[in-house]
Amino acid sequence: MAGPPRLLREVFRERFGMAPECLFRAPGRINLIGEHTDYNLGFVVPVALDLACYTAVSSNGCGQLRVFSANQNEAVEWPISSIASAPPRGHWSDYVLGVARELVRAGYDVPSCNLLVSSTVPTGAGLSSSAALEVSVALALLGDRKMDPLELALLCRRAENEFVGMPCGIMDQYISVFGREGAAVKIDCRSLEHEIVPLPPGMEIVAVNSMVKHELGSSAYRDRVRECGEAVDAVRRRRPEVTSLRDVTSTDLRTFASEMAPVPFRRARHVTTENARVEAFVEACRRCDLAAMGELLVASHRSLQHDYEVSCEELDFLVDTALSVPGVLGARMTGGGFGGCTVNLIAAGHAAAFVRAIQSAYRERFGVTPECYLCRPAAGAAEVRTV
Ligand code: GLA
Repeated sequence: MAGPPRLLREVFRERFGMAPECLFRAPGRINLIGEHTDYNLGFVVPVALDLACYTAVSSNGCGQLRVFSANQNEAVEWPISSIASAPPRGHWSDYVLGVARELVRAGYDVPSCNLLVSSTVPTGAGLSSSAALEVSVALALLGDRKMDPLELALLCRRAENEFVGMPCGIMDQYISVFGREGAAVKIDCRSLEHEIVPLPPGMEIVAVNSMVKHELGSSAYRDRVRECGEAVDAVRRRRPEVTSLRDVTSTDLRTFASEMAPVPFRRARHVTTENARVEAFVEACRRCDLAAMGELLVASHRSLQHDYEVSCEELDFLVDTALSVPGVLGARMTGGGFGGCTVNLIAAGHAAAFVRAIQSAYRERFGVTPECYLCRPAAGAAEVRTV
């Protein structure tokens, strides 16, 4: 097998002096539309990527969970007996320990083993490198024990919410588990059901990395979660059955506009209109209407820029520039915002020229060359079996 898996086997031998017994892969993702809707129990339409985290595992019989990150070139280990009580320390290994701890809490023994993690998902790019790490580690620690896929996604999210301390929604872990080759997945973040959305022919998806991650990101994320809660509280005063922004309609927004503070109102307007855009996007996908899909992406970006206020100068520049390049159907920021990537829908055959144009414009403006990734929708997490 070529690429990361083969390399990983060699590094594993060097590092631990033995061959790995199994190897697991969990993908990163790019979200096509439905941004900041998951923790409001709305809809999202991500695709799993061929960029992925690989975790190789073998038992070590020494009572320790040993982890080596090829990306960080750093080793960490914990006695198995301390997994349930060791605290987070603001380090990449928190994702590993968080997952191990959630497995223990769910009644699974964490085996004494060596783990090697190696990821091709760029970090800080908004392509969900952390969920890919969590899911591949969970599978490696489970080994041949089976876990319901939804339970696996929820367990990894709990690791991030409760141990890492990031109040994220379910999108990233869910798509890493349920991704489908050649298709996007529409997830209902309330029922936790999904439908496969085959992507029409004639288009390509290109991610453009702004190469920035503004510090504001994680505090603003928490602020948005809180502001959405305030909007729900305001609507509930008149409609007590409303439990999340998923339940808030455009009619509610018109009715309650005067009773809501301006900021929660704008946050609610983004979420409500974004959920409607998701439905329209899936419809447009089904009828292969590439132009409509592109327009919905742009409308999503404007709403994130002005109503949700999670964009930044670099992302706005990438979107505005993309829209002037021939063959671009639509573009928007993707992921949490304040940096990371834009997602661009490009008419087939135009991707290479698009990449050249956007790289040169961005370099001229910000002095940095943005990395670009041609996104091939890939399958969800699984063991990598070799012959
Ligand atoms: C981050 C979170 C996701 C989601 C997006 C915004 O990627 O991890 O759960 O909330 O931001 O859509």
